[in-house]
Amino acid sequence: MKKVYLVYPKTLGTIAPEIYGHFSEHIGGVFYDGLWVGKDSEIPNINGFRKDLVEKLRAIHPPVLRWPGGCFAETYDWRDGIGENRPVRPNWWTENDHRYETNEVGTHEFMELCELIGAKPYVAANITSLTPQEIRNWMDYCLSPRGTTTLALEREKNGHPEPFDVPYWGLGNENWGGGGNMRPETYADEYRRMSMLARNVMNGAGRRDIELYACGSNGFDYSWTHGTMPIWAESSKIINGFAMHYYCGKAGDTVNFTDAEWDQLIYQANRMEEIILRNWNIISAHNMQDKCKLVVDEWGCWHPEGTGPSKGYNLFEQQSTMRDAMVAALTLNIFNNHCDKVRMANVAQLVNNLHCLFLAGEENFIVTPTYHVFDLYQGHQGANAIETIVTDNDTLAESLSVSASTKDGKTLVTIGNLSVHNDVEVSLETLGVALPANGKIKTLAADDPRAHNTFDNPEAVTVKVCDFDPTKPITVPKAGIVALEF
Ligand code: AHR
Repeated sequence: MKKVYLVYPKTLGTIAPEIYGHFSEHIGGVFYDGLWVGKDSEIPNINGFRKDLVEKLRAIHPPVLRWPGGCFAETYDWRDGIGENRPVRPNWWTENDHRYETNEVGTHEFMELCELIGAKPYVAANITSLTPQEIRNWMDYCLSPRGTTTLALEREKNGHPEPFDVPYWGLGNENWGGGGNMRPETYADEYRRMSMLARNVMNGAGRRDIELYACGSNGFDYSWTHGTMPIWAESSKIINGFAMHYYCGKAGDTVNFTDAEWDQLIYQANRMEEIILRNWNIISAHNMQDKCKLVVDEWGCWHPEGTGPSKGYNLFEQQSTMRDAMVAALTLNIFNNHCDKVRMANVAQLVNNLHCLFLAGEENFIVTPTYHVFDLYQGHQGANAIETIVTDNDTLAESLSVSASTKDGKTLVTIGNLSVHNDVEVSLETLGVALPANGKIKTLAADDPRAHNTFDNPEAVTVKVCDFDPTKPITVPKAGIVALEF
């Protein structure tokens, strides 16, 4: 029996709702196939966006959606995506999948999508192939109040008199790689230049509250953090986040993995904590911890190509099993437990790509087990994280991933049983606080950890909800995830 101590009232901080954010790039089947079916489509849609997806997504309260990339962002010209007669361009990813960008979805459509799902937009600006002035113009177009600037009037002419509420802007994407192949020092200086211009237009629009994020490190490569942070510490007027990426990669086949490969992937995913701590140490060493939080704006599993239902037609589309759900549960628990450091996170990506919540093609549409994790964890958004201690938790293969939070007098404890072999009995303990005798237990589990949903069997993996007594031990099934609410 494992004991999970809930160390009330010791709070670790507030869990920013934005930790439960998403990412939608113009890549493979994310927009064209997944989200966007077109206004004239026979597939039920709301102004061109797949209705089923909009409704399911809205139900899990997505706080933020990142767009338009990813690598795509660094060759994207926002002017291509407004008004009539939009040009067709090579997409950043055209060399991989021979798709061209039609620009059917541009700024106005993306903002409408955010409104439909109830999320705030997070725009990743192109600093590799557009000039700082052009990015300034994009911000002016989005943010300037009605009837003020020429670009605000153009926005009005295009159907949106009021400014778009874009509270988060990223300046560049992966500028250590696809985004210009820059050295950290070069990027750090570029960021300083770009952020001054951004600040100027934000202030002019009366939007001092906007957060600007700089490109952060790739996985375990801390040389980027070491190279950039002193330059920002020396003089940086505005930097709110260090946008790092970590894909925990693959371990065997997407679906037919071995038990050892389950352990391997869980181990890789669990290293997110080390990455957070090491980056945070560098940020703190430069006394930037109060200004510059961590923004993990791409994370997830990256399995071998061609394992999604479109069988390779959609770039990086992959099936998603209970193993992916466990990676999501474990990663979100890590973010909750480090909510003093993590400002935002965006799982990559929303639909038909990498660690997705949805798979869709023509009239077919399903949610993946990872969707259910975001559903079970909803209550953590904006809650106070409380410290948890798990006794007898020393080997990864037999351990639990746990986080807990309280909000409005309610507690939510989320537990992933990382063992692929054994159910685990768990009792909740407190240091003197009485637990109520009634609660709800929501369980996401399957007999086989390789279980996944398909277009033919869309409910192979779903959530079961039961009453439970928090004062009595519960069983967390092997490779299963529970959310305890009381
Ligand atoms: O998410 C797919 C790609 O992975 C993104 O475009 C890029 O930022 C990362 O390398």
